[in-house]
Amino acid sequence: MTTAEQTRQIYERHPYPAANLAEIARKGRAIPPLKWLQAIGRPGQPRPERVLVAGCGTGAEAFALRRRLPKAEIVAVDFSPRSIALARRLQRTIGVGEPITFLVADLTDPDLAWQTGGDFDLITCHGVLSYLPDPQPVLTGFAACLRPSGALYLGVNGEAHPATRLRPWLASFGFATDALHDERRLRELLGLWDSLHDGESGEFAGKSTSYLAGDVCGPHFNNWPLRRWRAVANRCGWELAGTTLLPLALRLTMDGEHHRPLFPAGLGELAERIDLIRPASFHKLLLRRAAPGALDLFPADGRAVPLRWSGLYSVHFPRTTDSQKVPATFHCPTLSLHFAWSLTRRQADGLRTFIETGTASPNWLRHWGPSEAARRLLWLWAGLGVVTPGDRGPAATD
Ligand SMILES: C[S@@+](CC[C@H](N)C(=O)[O-])C[C@H]1O[C@@H](n2cnc3c(N)ncnc32)[C@H](O)[C@@H]1O
Repeated sequence: MTTAEQTRQIYERHPYPAANLAEIARKGRAIPPLKWLQAIGRPGQPRPERVLVAGCGTGAEAFALRRRLPKAEIVAVDFSPRSIALARRLQRTIGVGEPITFLVADLTDPDLAWQTGGDFDLITCHGVLSYLPDPQPVLTGFAACLRPSGALYLGVNGEAHPATRLRPWLASFGFATDALHDERRLRELLGLWDSLHDGESGEFAGKSTSYLAGDVCGPHFNNWPLRRWRAVANRCGWELAGTTLLPLALRLTMDGEHHRPLFPAGLGELAERIDLIRPASFHKLLLRRAAPGALDLFPADGRAVPLRWSGLYSVHFPRTTDSQKVPATFHCPTLSLHFAWSLTRRQADGLRTFIETGTASPNWLRHWGPSEAARRLLWLWAGLGVVTPGDRGPAATD
């Protein structure tokens, strides 16, 4: 039996998510903020009209999206017929406004675009690619399903995922982790693990059976550092536009100016460096169709990058000030971030124009100032999601 077939059988036996399905369908499940997905993944574009939920399980993610995008056409697919049957039943039970189209489909199928109707503005794929022996064909297939201005959200395991240490530890007790065989014994061992970790990596013994079957036991796991996920995505013509962690991590480095040694680095490289310093257990990645490095603020080829105001932050300037320095405060409710920056008067004027027009022309950049400090500030803002690089042309693929 292939690894993919083993994985399919796991989800047939233990559809995910399973704990109190109706409750999950009604209340929804945490998905990345739509405002962030739009601002960083689809700068300047209207709300998505067509969304693909790839590997939807029993539908929690799709139901959460339906609430945020009541008018969008949502297609949700999974290769587990039982999961799709449960999702359809839930949809009838809870009664959603615009119905979601749930389909049985394999993400590795080269005909995915035809089966789903393609032409999507947004694809979300959360907790799926970490269990595929080779995610590359899926990432290539997604490209065929997406409009050029579309974005791909991926939720994938990181190097610090608890299963990375849990699995060898379970194996040291002679426990086979290739599938969920003996749940009672597993819960007993996890109880021991939890008692020694004091909740720092989450409580495991009390997790649902479907979580234990899919996220702890299974035939295959890609618990990869960001560098590896990005390299695979780059090979399929995607470039990293942002991660949920990058702005938060950068914000932490700003007090005391600890971010300085990170400069200069492209957005993707910057996120990779942060992940090397402090490996994530789970990556929430936003990708756009672009060649590697194409979304960098200061690309190696020196071509001017169109810059957009992301709209994630509001900026407050004092009404009047006599001094040459203007203290500006930046606030982002979506990411719960807040910081202050002291700007020159020229920069403050330039920033007001930028916010009003939403884009920065090459002229604006000249006005902003050619000094390294001025460039570093824009670079920092790109990492924090204050500004976002615009499109520089079509992607290069293998
Ligand atoms: C951990 S669940 C995540 C479900 C959903 N995305 C969520 O976050 O609630 C992983 C799902 O991916 C599906 N899956 C894995 N490989 C797949 C493939 N090749 N094609 C379609 N679905 C797949 C599984 O059947 C399972 O339902």
